Order: sequence, then C-alpha cells, then structure tokens
Amino acid sequence: MQEYDQHNLTRAVIARLADTPNARTKEIMTSLVRHLHDFAREVRLTEAEWKHGIDYLTATGQMCDDKRQEFILLSDVLGLSMLTVAMNQEKPEGCTEATVFGPFHVEGAPYYEHGADVANGAKGEPCMVYGRVTGVDGRPVADAVVETWQADADGHYDVQYEGLEVAQGRGVLKSGEDGRFHFRTIVAQAYPIPDDGPVGELLRATGRHSWRPAHLHFMIKAPGYETLVTHVFRRGDKYLDSDAVFGVRKSLIGDWVRQTDGTYRLDFDFVLNPTR
Ligand code: BEZ
Ligand code: FE
Repeated sequence: MQEYDQHNLTRAVIARLADTPNARTKEIMTSLVRHLHDFAREVRLTEAEWKHGIDYLTATGQMCDDKRQEFILLSDVLGLSMLTVAMNQEKPEGCTEATVFGPFHVEGAPYYEHGADVANGAKGEPCMVYGRVTGVDGRPVADAVVETWQADADGHYDVQYEGLEVAQGRGVLKSGEDGRFHFRTIVAQAYPIPDDGPVGELLRATGRHSWRPAHLHFMIKAPGYETLVTHVFRRGDKYLDSDAVFGVRKSLIGDWVRQTDGTYRLDFDFVLNPTR
C-alpha cells in the first residue's frame, strides 16, 4: 500500500491525472497541482491558514450573484485578468491595445444615433466623444458596432443603482462610412472598484487602494476584425500608475480637453486587428 507524505504527495496526485481524456485539461490540472503544492511548501502553509483560505474562497463565492461577480474581481486585483488579456490579445504594431473587460458591461444596451446623449441622465460634466474606427492600413471601418459604458460622477455604473430601470452612461453606436462616430456623455472620473466584500478585505490587508483611474469603456465589433475590448484612460489621473486591476496601457491614454464653453471633448481613434 502506498503511503503519502510531503515528499511524494505531489507526484502521486499528478499520477492520478494520467487517464484524463482531454489533453488540455490534463496539462492545466497537472500544472495547477504542481504550483499549488509548491506554493503551500514555499510558504509552509499552516492548517489554520489553509482554513482561512477556504473560508475566504467560500465568502467570495457567497458574494456572487447575477449582478456581482466577486471571483472575477479577485482575478482582476490579482492581475490574473490582465495577464490573460495581455497573453491572448497581443496585437500587431499600430492596433489599439486591449484591456480588461470589467464586470459592468450589459448585453442589450440601447442604440443611439451619432451625436445623441448616451449619459441619459447620468450625473457628470458634459463631454463630447469623437472616435474613428479604421484598419491598420488606415482605411475606415464602416458599420462597426461601438459599445461604450462608463461610471457617473459619483463613481457608479447604472447597474449599481438599485431599481434604476434605464441605461445611463452606456450605449451602442454604429460607425459611419468614414469610420467615424460621436456621442455626448459625461466626463469620466476615477472610482473605487466594489470593496465591501472579500476583495476589499484583501486590498486592505495588503495595504492597497481600490481605485481605478478615470476611463471610458469600449467594445468594438466589425466583421473581418477581432473584437476590441478596451478603455480610454484620462491623462493626468492620479491613479494611472496604480490601477487596482492593472489595466492601464500608455497607448490608451486620451485627453479630455476643456472647451471654452466649459464642456469637455475627447478624440480617440481605434485601429482594429483583422482576423486571419
Ligand atoms: C471596470 O472598469 O469597470 C472594472 C474593471 C475591473 C474590476 C472592476 C471594475
Ligand atoms: Fe470601468
């Protein structure tokens, strides 16, 4: 009979995966077990710490419902979401870079005409956004579906307001023949990610803040091109260097320019990567 101790256990667990029918599942599970065991050995995990970890993950799951995904938030603050994006969304020179999706996208946001007010009552300073969608060759991409969403001046997305039935600060537009689109909205402001759950507890325990620099989300889809999920970050924001979810890329920083009438204007062009 085989006995297991701290020296042979990892090998035994990995051996138990030998008959995993799916090769990728086998690769992932083998690596997971190896790293998990190495981690426990490296920190010399105590039984009390193991229990604390189990309780933490349980609380994370219990915080999840159809509106709140605490596990994704955990992945975000651990940099795993951005690492996955960075590995899988490497684009050729000249293409707009991708960043994290975040938990506040909503399927079925309303369509708007060019120039319409996407804020739709969201609190904030007025701002016009002018964008253009092109391929790497600079040619316009017409009829691209451009989705945008953002937090209001109080740092909340519409979906975070209990009982709010209408979309605010989010909408879908189509680029014109020249690849251009524009809409009215409110100025993006920095906001803290939800920190009233296990993720907030982790941030506080590790001396981290929960803020994201001001940004405007975009998801752009067009036939023949990879879907682009990205943000435009606001130049000058004090959290650009310490985004709680590590999503900032220099190429995604834009200028919200104050106009003579006190409103703001952002111009940003998006370059899509063709699918092969
Ligand atoms: C967001 O930008 O909406 C977001 C991204 C990751 C975690 C929380 C919020
Ligand atoms: Fe956001």
